[in-house]
Amino acid sequence: MSRKRVAVLISGRGSNMAALIEAAKDSSYPAEIALVLSNREDAGGLLVAIAAGIATEVVEHTQFGTDRAGFEGALQATLEKHHIEIVCLAGFMRLLTAEFVGRWQGRILNIHPALLPAFKGLDTHKRALEAGAKVHGATVHFVVPEMDSGPIIAQGAVSILAGDTEEVLAARVLKVEHRIYPLALKLVAEGRVRVENGHCLVDGVRVPDAGAAVPSA
Ligand code: GRF
Repeated sequence: MSRKRVAVLISGRGSNMAALIEAAKDSSYPAEIALVLSNREDAGGLLVAIAAGIATEVVEHTQFGTDRAGFEGALQATLEKHHIEIVCLAGFMRLLTAEFVGRWQGRILNIHPALLPAFKGLDTHKRALEAGAKVHGATVHFVVPEMDSGPIIAQGAVSILAGDTEEVLAARVLKVEHRIYPLALKLVAEGRVRVENGHCLVDGVRVPDAGAAVPSA
């Protein structure tokens, strides 16, 4: 089976991007990272991608002002130019419109630093600590127009320990992110993930949403 051509979209340091690049170095991995695309030319991850010999592109959202269609049109053209089949958002800090997301339905993934559906949005580690949660973690999910709400492909949990600071917890979760993103992309690239009634089935077995049990008040 030919390897799927993947674009990783970043805005920052790109450690999840690096984890995907690392996984894809194995020739038996079912996807290749064909492109790293950033909306910021100063994203640190671009240098990491260049050093790894991966094609990079920058589409700066600021060039488009309030013209979101223009920005997304440029994103789409760049993805098409590189014959991309799957898109992985990895710390990509722009919300995408329903039109763009719809075009990539079932082929666009995101990683979120919490056990969804708990703690959607920003500052997840701080909020988990403030809520007194005992478990926390990360989620890879398909992207849908509503933020952090798509079908869950894979999750990884960590314990929250006494004395944890936001930074310590973030580092513990990040290690999990770097494990589950390559795993989730592998499952999708191998065609083993199906969405039924808003939930993912992997090899026909429904993925449980671990975060449903996390207090997130
Ligand atoms: C990660 O915590 C990811 O879950 C979130 O943004 C952060 C990006 O980090 N969406 P990196 O750029 O992958 O290091």
